[in-house]
This record gives sequence, structure tokens and C-alpha cells, in this order.
Amino acid sequence: MLYPPKFLPENVDVLLSVNWLYHIPGASLDDMFNVYGEYVNPGGYMAFDCISARYNSKPNNTYHTADLRLPPAKRRPSEYTFRMTSREVENCASKYGYVVQKKRELRTSPPRNVYIAKRCF
Ligand SMILES: C[S@@+](CC[C@H](N)C(=O)[O-])C[C@H]1O[C@@H](n2cnc3c(N)ncnc32)[C@H](O)[C@@H]1O
Repeated sequence: MLYPPKFLPENVDVLLSVNWLYHIPGASLDDMFNVYGEYVNPGGYMAFDCISARYNSKPNNTYHTADLRLPPAKRRPSEYTFRMTSREVENCASKYGYVVQKKRELRTSPPRNVYIAKRCF
């Protein structure tokens, strides 16, 4: 789960989340918008990356990437706890008053997308 921030952000125009949310056990994109979405000023932006659902079809995607040389029974679960399609990201953002304005697919391993979502209300 995602803990609420110890220090509440104030007067934030851009909130950046990179290489973070999908490493937290039990956390989701809904959590991020739920916990932090209200702190961004209306008209401001949430910029974040998300592991693409394309990763789900890659070999060994369910295992921790540091454990691939171990026998399968000894491998830990993947450190990439959730993966999403762009449509899922857009639908999630819209529930919290955000509209995805830009998306960039990165050819990384695992594949990830970067989004910029604007708080419209
Ligand atoms: C992979 S590190 C990435 C840090 C930074 N974003 C970077 O790219 O260098 C994941 C971060 O998530 C934080 N974290 C772990 N559990 C958390 C939780 N339950 N709520 C909020 N942050 C958490 C850790 O303190 C750590 O800084």
C-alpha cells in the first residue's frame, strides 16, 4: 500500500513520479491519484512512468529480474508489481479529474510508458 506523505505538498504545479510506484507492494495507479492527486493545483500536471502491459507477454516477466540465473523455484516475484495499458492509465486518470495529454513509449526492458496528465478540475 502507499502511505500518505509525511509532509503535505503545497502549491504544486507538477508532481513527478518516476521509477517508484510500481515497486511498492500493493500500490496502484489509483493509489497515486488518490493520495497525491488533490495536491496538484488545478491546471497543473502529474508526470509519471508506468510498466506497459506488453511486459506481461515477455519471457520470465513474473520473476524478479535479479533472480533469472536461479532455478525457478528459488526466484522472487517480479519487482514490477503492476503493468497497465495506455487505455487503463487514461481511464484511471480520468476518475480523478486528470486528462492524459502526452504519452511516450520507451523501448526499455521492461517496456514502460511515460505520461503527462493535466488536472482539469
Ligand atoms: C526504486 S526506488 C526509486 C527512487 C527514485 N524514484 C529513483 O528513481 O531513484 C523506490 C522508492 O520507493 C520508496 N517507497 C518504498 N515503499 C514505499 C511506500 N509504501 N510508500 C511510499 N514510498 C515508498 C522507497 O523509499 C524508494 O525511495
